Amino acid sequence: MSDQGDFAVALVREAGALARRMRESLGAVDAKDPLDFCTEADHRIEQLVRERIAARFNEPVLGEEAGGGPASRLWVVDPIDGTVNFIHGTSRWCISLAFVVESRVELGVIFAPAEQRLFVAERGSGARLNDAPMRVSGMAHGAGPVVEVGWSSRRPIGAYAALIERLIGADMEFRRHGSGALGMADVAAGLNDAYVELHINAWDVAAGLLLVQEAGGWTNDYLRGDWATQGNPISACTPELQDRLAKVTGIA
Ligand code: IPD
Repeated sequence: MSDQGDFAVALVREAGALARRMRESLGAVDAKDPLDFCTEADHRIEQLVRERIAARFNEPVLGEEAGGGPASRLWVVDPIDGTVNFIHGTSRWCISLAFVVESRVELGVIFAPAEQRLFVAERGSGARLNDAPMRVSGMAHGAGPVVEVGWSSRRPIGAYAALIERLIGADMEFRRHGSGALGMADVAAGLNDAYVELHINAWDVAAGLLLVQEAGGWTNDYLRGDWATQGNPISACTPELQDRLAKVTGIA
């Protein structure tokens, strides 16, 4: 692995250990809106990541809690993705860290400490889960497609309801597990056939984009326009589903 890769893995592991300690006494929970929450751990972990990157590389950071803007070389961090799961004491949450150069993800690392799952991808070097190579499903399971659908109040709920109706009408199962980053990682690991969301922020998907691509999957052109500040729709899947899914989602 590159020096950057080693650095990112050590950092998400350090952040994960801190998050688990902080989860023991959760502290204040802030509501950014009635369905979007933030804990003291979100702030503390983003601060830790920013400090470590500043000390080692002195490069700009875009993060969920303290923001940031576009830059030609940019670290993108979600300190805790799946915050609602973290608050509720379930295991499906993670730290997501990506390094993006000229709107191309070069490194993506996702660590789910409570599940002990570490996902790593470096451009051109494949994708790994806990050090084992991973691949998208290829629909090799022989069952119908399972599509995870994320949602947020950033888009009208009716649009998500209509999307789910179209998926079912096209003979696809849907799931919702509450972490966009891990939804993408599960596509890369072949555990879901697709992840779709009508709008998602860059810190939720930057690392996952490279995981899916390096695991042989397809992703839409997410890193276009003002992706760093405005986000975009996301669609990612095993290649066998690409055309069928695009007809249902309209995301190409
Ligand atoms: C959210 C989760 C969720 C996705 C939302 C995100 P957070 O991030 O990834 O699964 O559907 O779009 O905002 O609040 O848990 O960091």
